[in-house]
Amino acid sequence: MVQENISLKPYNTFHIDECAAKFASFNTISSLKELLEAFKELPLLIIGGGSNILLTGKFNGLVLKNEIKGIDVVDEDDDEIYIKAGAGENWHELVLFCVDHNYGGLENLSLIPGNVGASPMQNIGAYGVELKDTFFELEAYDLKENTIKKFNKEACNFGYRDSVFKNKYKGQFIILNVTFKLSKQPVYNTSYGAIEQELKKMNVSSLSIQAISQAVINIRRSKLPDPNVIGNAGSFFKNPEVEESFFKQLKSIDATIPGYNVSEGKYKIPAAWLIEKCGWKGFRDGDAGCHKDQALVLVNYGSAKGEEILSLANRIINSVKTKFNVDLEKEVNLI
Ligand code: FAD
Ligand code: EPU
Repeated sequence: MVQENISLKPYNTFHIDECAAKFASFNTISSLKELLEAFKELPLLIIGGGSNILLTGKFNGLVLKNEIKGIDVVDEDDDEIYIKAGAGENWHELVLFCVDHNYGGLENLSLIPGNVGASPMQNIGAYGVELKDTFFELEAYDLKENTIKKFNKEACNFGYRDSVFKNKYKGQFIILNVTFKLSKQPVYNTSYGAIEQELKKMNVSSLSIQAISQAVINIRRSKLPDPNVIGNAGSFFKNPEVEESFFKQLKSIDATIPGYNVSEGKYKIPAAWLIEKCGWKGFRDGDAGCHKDQALVLVNYGSAKGEEILSLANRIINSVKTKFNVDLEKEVNLI
């Protein structure tokens, strides 16, 4: 069923109250094709869980919610198992399915909001793991050629919060399903952040992917605002990468600046630290704000407009540029 002029408030975790001219969902490729054919003249927006978008005005086109389901084992051998998940599956439920079956690889990515279909878009990452580490392939509908194409890992050109779908093929493909290559003999990854500390707190005596998943869930719950309580889309900006010489320069001005070596001569700096140092943490203007416990997360306290969140984001970008000469890049997709 196609709905007209409906509010997208329930469909985005920022809870921005903007309308879509047309809205429909699809759970099969044939229903997707019918919708595309019927509205081929309209601008198109595909959404999953709406947890990485900021609506900045009415969407004068067709919003399609991808609800293609299914979690299937498609291949396996003694060591590995290949799991294919429909784009409309909830990400965290897929993670829990794998954790419950002892298929290792996704446990550090527990509790990331949103759906499977968007996960390759920005190569989701957390707690020392990125989607690309377990990604095998995906199938996507090509809007230009009206065919279904397969992408292997190389073709996706994954980077930090980046893929070919955000750049070269922006707006050209609708991701239909993603296949993951998971391990039957899990390799534990507990070195990042507070995972080991949390495992100790939980009194875990023998390590398992179930314990790691629970530790990540606990840390995330303690650090990040729950979008059901306060509107947000997670980190609003990417953590910037700078040259080593520039990082050392910043360090000589403020020795407390955190940063870590990511590749030869490159350092990543937590954007949250830069934003906090500019005095934005806990700042509120109307219903738009910078979260009081995590400066990288912009929030909607109730009825902020997308434009107000965007204006705050731009003020933050300008002040970080002025104070540190660092360019912050938005992570959230502006619509
Ligand atoms: P949406 O917001 O619906 O869409 C995001 C983008 O992908 C849009 O441009 C949309 O058009 C496009 N898109 C969606 N589905 C498809 C499809 N099937 N085919 C083609 N294009 C599509 N991200 C991380 O990487 N790490 C984190 O730790 C993390 N923590 C978060 C914490 C919170 C509290 C929140 C609210 C967000 C967090 N995020 C994090 C961001 C977000 O969860 C991810 O980006 C997630 O993958 C978005 O999924 P979604 O289904 O909600 O995407
Ligand atoms: N920090 C501050 N002030 C704050 C918060 C953090 O100075 O208000 C500093 C601290 O030094 C802290 C450091 O920033 O040690 C890093 O903070 P945190 O561990 O919370 O991680 P982050 O860099 O803010 C990134 C991702 C998150 C991901 C976590 C865990 C990006 C843009 N964000 O956040 O991803 O969950 O690491 O791996 O890379 C998202 O993409 O939406 C997201 C939430």
